[in-house]
Amino acid sequence: MALIESSPTLYPSVVPFAGRGLTDVVADSRAELRRELRSSGALLFRGFDVGGSEGQQRAVEALSGVALGYTERSSPRRVVSGRVYTSTDYPASEEIFLHNENSYQATWPMTLFFHCVRPADTSGATPLADTRQILARIDPEVVSAFRRRGWMVARTYREDLGLSWRYAFDTDSRAQVESYCASRGLRTEWLGADVLRTVAFRDAVHRHPVTGADVWFNHLTVFHVSTLPDTARRGLLEMVGEYELPSNTYYGDGAPIEGDVLDHLRDCYRQARTRFDYRTDDLLVIDNMLTAHGREPFTGPRQVTVAMAEPSDGAVE
Ligand SMILES: [Fe+2]
Repeated sequence: MALIESSPTLYPSVVPFAGRGLTDVVADSRAELRRELRSSGALLFRGFDVGGSEGQQRAVEALSGVALGYTERSSPRRVVSGRVYTSTDYPASEEIFLHNENSYQATWPMTLFFHCVRPADTSGATPLADTRQILARIDPEVVSAFRRRGWMVARTYREDLGLSWRYAFDTDSRAQVESYCASRGLRTEWLGADVLRTVAFRDAVHRHPVTGADVWFNHLTVFHVSTLPDTARRGLLEMVGEYELPSNTYYGDGAPIEGDVLDHLRDCYRQARTRFDYRTDDLLVIDNMLTAHGREPFTGPRQVTVAMAEPSDGAVE
C-alpha cells in the first residue's frame, strides 16, 4: 500500500492514490490517515474525483463519522447539500484572519473538510498555521496572562448589521436561544426585541485531547475589533459604539486587551502561516485544534465548500 508522504513543515501531506475512489481510500486507510491528521495537523487529497458535495459528505463519514450542522454561527454560509456548506459568503475582497473554527464556543468540531470545487483566479488560498507553533512564538508573559485571566467574547446580533440572532442560532424562538446560551455558558442581554448581546468566558490555551500538546486555541485575535480594516472598524464604532459591536474580545476579567499584545499575537499567527494554491477537486482535511485556517482575498468565481465533524469540548476521549 502506498504511504502518505509526510512533510516536516505544515504543508499538507500528499496522498498518492489517484485512480481509486476517495471514499475507498479513506475507508481502507482510515486508521493511518487519522494518525497522520492528528500528528501533522492537515491532509491534502489531490487528484481524486471527489464527487461534488455528496462525495465530500461521504468522505467525511468515512474518515470522521456524521457531519455536523452549523450552530451559534459567526459567518454567513449557505447549505450546498446535506451538511456541506459554502465555506463563507464573506466578501471576496476581504481577508479572513487565521482562526480555529468555533473556538469561541463551548464545543467545536475536531475535523474540518474543505473541498475546492473551483479555485480562484488569483489568491484565495486557505492559509494554515500550526497552533503549537503559534503558542511557542508568543511571549511567555502574554501566554501566562491569558492562562490566568482567560478571555471574554462579547457578540451583538441585530437585523441590520452583522448577523441576526435568528440566523446565528437558527431559530425564531427567544426561549430556545436563552436555553441554548444557558447550556453553553453564554450570558444573554436583550437590548431590544431584535438586538441580543451575549458574553462568554473561555480558555485561551487548550490541551489537545489526542496528542496532549498545548495549543493556542481561541478567537481572541480574529474577533477583536482591531483585526478589522480601519474603515470598517471606524464605521462600526461610530454606528453602534464599542458595547454593541458585532464581536469584540477582552481579557476574561473584562479588561481591554492592549494594542501591542494584539499586534504581537497577529505577528505570531503570520509567522507560523503557510499556504498552497488550490487545484480543482482538492480536499483539504484539517485537525481544527492543531491547525488554524483563514482565507486570502481573491478574484474570480472561487468555490470552496466546508463540512465539519467530531464535536469536542476538549475532554480526553
Ligand atoms: Fe473558518
